[in-house]
Formats: sequence, C-alpha cells, structure tokens
Amino acid sequence: MNVFFVQIVKEIRYICRKENQYSYKMDFLSLSKARCSVRKYDFSRPIEQEKLDYIMECVRFAPSAVNFQPWKFLIAKEKNILEAISSCYANEWIKTAPCIIVACVDHRQSWHRQRYDNKDHADIDIAIAVEHLCLAATEQGLGTCWVCNFDAQKCRELLQLDEQVEPAVLIPIGYGTDPGREKKRKEISDIIL
Ligand SMILES: Cc1cc2nc3c(=O)[nH]c(=O)nc-3n(C[C@H](O)[C@H](O)[C@H](O)COP(=O)(O)O)c2cc1C
Repeated sequence: MNVFFVQIVKEIRYICRKENQYSYKMDFLSLSKARCSVRKYDFSRPIEQEKLDYIMECVRFAPSAVNFQPWKFLIAKEKNILEAISSCYANEWIKTAPCIIVACVDHRQSWHRQRYDNKDHADIDIAIAVEHLCLAATEQGLGTCWVCNFDAQKCRELLQLDEQVEPAVLIPIGYGTDPGREKKRKEISDIIL
C-alpha cells in the first residue's frame, strides 16, 4: 500500500484518539485493528468514570472456565498507589498513565482440570477478561497496554494481596499521546495448520 496513504490513516487514527471522537461504531475487525499497545499517556487527563464503568461491565461479561470468574481487579488512580505499581515495572513510560488496572487471579477460585492433569485455567480466564478490557477501552477512545514483564511478588506485597491472589497483568489505561505504529502480524497462511 502507498506509504502516503498509510501515513494519512495513521494521522486520522491519532486525531480521533486524541480528540476522543470515535463517533462511528467500529465493527469487530476495525476494533481489533485499532487496539494497540499505547506506551505514552496524557497523565493530566483523567478517565471519565462512566467510561471506566462501561469497560468494567465488559470485563464482567467475559467467559471463564466453568464460569468460575476467578478474578479481582484493582483500579489504581491515587498517586501513591500508581507509584507503588510503577515501581514493579522497569520501564518509565508506565508512569505517564493516569490509571493502572491490576488484573489478579485467585488460584483458589479457578478451574483445575482435575480429571486429567489438574491444569489451572486461571491464566486463560484472566487473558480473556483483560482483552475484553483492552477492546472496550479502545472502543471508548482510550489506550491500554498489556504489561506482564513486572515483579509480581513485589506487586503482591506492596498491594498487600493475599498469598493466593496473583497479580497477573498490569493494564495502564488513559488517553494516548503517541501516534501508534503499523501493526505487524503473520499472514493467515502462516497461522492456519
Ligand atoms: C501476555 C502479554 C504480555 C505483554 N507484556 C508486555 C510488557 O510487559 N511490556 C510491554 O511494553 N508490552 C507488553 N505486551 C504488549 C505486546 O508487546 C504487544 O501486544 C505486541 O507487541 C503487539 O503489539 P500491539 O499490542 O500494538 O498490537 C504484552 C502483550 C501480551 C499479550
């Protein structure tokens, strides 16, 4: 595709996200393409409570094994809690987020495949819920990023979480200020067996 055209599309997406003027409803493919990892946020622009409520409602309806819903979400907005969570991640950009959601799994509540190998399905469940979160946020004009490369043990201690409650994913969320990158993905022919 023409480089100029790609640049124009990027600019339009940036302006839309910046101004939060997604006035049209995105179909699922457009939403999937629009969601991207945002690593720079406008710290001074808080997220509207209605948007946060809407996003968490989308999370609540995520499926889980045996419908056990083995999750808890900590929504951090206060400065000292944001700082504590950010200290568990090595990259500075996370400090630009006005809100970080800590997605936790409770291993006492998750389904274990006892009949065969006792596999714990908590990670699968939380991944679905987190992606609901990220897609819903995108629909609302907000940026997110999955963050798993953090010190989960330190995070659990700082947030005084129970031993069985594992912080699985950090999700910084807010209005993004970087223009985003072109998505690189494998071709369909490379992923279908
Ligand atoms: C399970 C998981 C863990 C991730 N952990 C991190 C992370 O610790 N830090 C980070 O900057 N990005 C992280 N990412 C974001 C990925 O790098 C990103 O999704 C991928 O490069 C595709 O880019 P896109 O999200 O813009 O489409 C993670 C993504 C997933 C799904």
